[in-house]
Amino acid sequence: MKSVIINENLCVGCGKCVTDCVSEKIKLIGGKAQFMYERCIGCGHCYAICPMGAVTLTKFGDIPEEKPISMTEIDSDMLLHAMKSRRTIRKFKDEKISDEDINTIIEAGRYCPTGTNAQDFSFTVIKNTDFLEKEAVSVFRNAQKIGGSFVKYIRNTTIDDNFFFKKAPLVIVVNGKGKTSPCLASSYMELMAESLGLGVLYSGFFIAATKFSRKIAKALNTPEGHTPVTCLVIGYPDVEYKRIPPRNEAQVNFI
Ligand SMILES: Cc1cc2nc3c(=O)[nH]c(=O)nc-3n(C[C@H](O)[C@H](O)[C@H](O)COP(=O)(O)O)c2cc1C
Repeated sequence: MKSVIINENLCVGCGKCVTDCVSEKIKLIGGKAQFMYERCIGCGHCYAICPMGAVTLTKFGDIPEEKPISMTEIDSDMLLHAMKSRRTIRKFKDEKISDEDINTIIEAGRYCPTGTNAQDFSFTVIKNTDFLEKEAVSVFRNAQKIGGSFVKYIRNTTIDDNFFFKKAPLVIVVNGKGKTSPCLASSYMELMAESLGLGVLYSGFFIAATKFSRKIAKALNTPEGHTPVTCLVIGYPDVEYKRIPPRNEAQVNFI
């Protein structure tokens, strides 16, 4: 079955889907738009742009329409201020996160852009972190004893019992085939978590631990072909920051 079907009874031949199709897979024939191939990248631009609602993305069937809102609805000064105000959180309240909020965070991640619309990521939600925390701590403590090139980053670091997850109630590992898509998804997820009143720590150290322990790999049960790329440690912040620390000037090269 073709990945896009255009209802010729509804199509008025405006050509908007033709000019907006990044893969050039739609042509106007006899005043009607026609999808010319079997498959495309499935970005849905044709579906989104059609003024008549004539486009069906067959993979998803008949779905209720969701109208877009413009980002301009969000005040840009406020948005920038909020983005600059976000901080890595390493102290969390002993408070659970609702499944609804977990789903909202994942929903934000899954809507990030991906090259060729690959959506090549997956999410591992961990509510009980005890085993993974213990195992990762043991891997790092051993690494400190044994040495090695990686250890220079943690040589003088105290690996306490909550080194990776800081007693947070939720960890989401974002996996992927490559790194770009999971990183983009994670950034969307972090901002969404913040807007829900949550705080996030990216645990790069946990991602390092996943590479050194078969037990961790087994417990994570990462989908075939994916590897863990980012680890978001999430909870209600038990710390309040009073000011925004300065950052380096942006390195910008106008050419
Ligand atoms: C990919 C990534 C991995 C990180 N890994 C860790 C980590 O393992 N442990 C930690 O305490 N902080 C980690 N951080 C947090 C950084 O130290 C933090 O972002 C940086 O110091 C700037 O502080 P801010 O996020 O509050 O602006 C990580 C951040 C990123 C983006």
